[in-house]
Amino acid sequence: MRIGVLTGGGDCPGLNAAIRGVTTRALQSNDEVIGILNGWAGVLERSYRQLTLADVAEILPVGGTILGSSRTNPAKINRGMEQAMEGIAAMQLEALIAIGGDDTLGVAEKLYQAGIPIVGIPKTMDNDLNGCDYCIGFDTAVSVVTEAMDRLRTTAASHHRVIVVEVMGRDAGWVATVGGLAGGADYILIPEVPVSVNEVCAALQRQRAAGKGYHLVVVAEGAQIPGVATAEEEAMRYRDAFGHIQLGKRGIGERLAATIAQQTGFETRSIVLGHLQRGGSPSNFDRRLGSALGVAAVDLVHRREFGKMPAFRNNRIITMPIAEAVARTQTVDFELYRLAQVFFG
Ligand code: F6P
Repeated sequence: MRIGVLTGGGDCPGLNAAIRGVTTRALQSNDEVIGILNGWAGVLERSYRQLTLADVAEILPVGGTILGSSRTNPAKINRGMEQAMEGIAAMQLEALIAIGGDDTLGVAEKLYQAGIPIVGIPKTMDNDLNGCDYCIGFDTAVSVVTEAMDRLRTTAASHHRVIVVEVMGRDAGWVATVGGLAGGADYILIPEVPVSVNEVCAALQRQRAAGKGYHLVVVAEGAQIPGVATAEEEAMRYRDAFGHIQLGKRGIGERLAATIAQQTGFETRSIVLGHLQRGGSPSNFDRRLGSALGVAAVDLVHRREFGKMPAFRNNRIITMPIAEAVARTQTVDFELYRLAQVFFG
């Protein structure tokens, strides 16, 4: 078969592991692998390169994606979906494997509904695809957050400061909760749990009275905090093709830190971890996850199980409809958040 593969949306470590998994498995069956460049943009522009074993031989430990990525949304372009289907036909693809999060897989599902033989692979460091316990990129991102917090702890402690750590997480606070829990956060603010700044300050003051000399506060970039005014208009100036505003521009971490300083008198600093969470070499887990999902996706293609994707659930690789993965945002498991809350004092 002539199988296309693309990576769309925000990049993250582990994408190359998936591309290597797809390519290796497909070439073993004498398939041709067509690497489409820059996500859906490459489908519209018909830009691709054929992938060989030599192309993927060294990419397992490499971050990012050798295929490039974009946030191009064919559904938002005049005749975009037709153009995408024409592109797939022109490139003579007999199947397409789309690696991405809710946006990329949302387009994949639309194309599948229109008759295109598509299989998905779940990746998003936000980890918010429905029905997936772990998406590619999440484990590496939380490792980055944990290591950053270990480093911030010593400087916060030396100066008796509050350090606010802003992490990624658009609609769900998985990175904040899992990274914060492992990094020993004294408070975690996520989009799913609205907490006022007064509550945060009261918790920090309680902790200080109980003898804690410094505090690490983790905030997800998408969190709403009554009492903290963010730069929503500034963020809205940078909307992508899927309608998402650039959350980093809200300045939630910096503004939360300033408000905490004002209300408690504690010396406060803030840091935005930003794209550090998406860069660099994938963790052991993301290398294995990407590899397993890549291989499983080709197996689905061979079984002609289109409109589906492999996913990691209950410690094994299962098969699920793409439609189910994009049906809703998977928000944080409250049991996990309650565990983190134990350490808020
Ligand atoms: O892919 C999801 C994500 O990492 C979000 O958490 C974040 O808001 C966004 O991407 C940042 O996107 P960009 O790379 O376009 O700045």
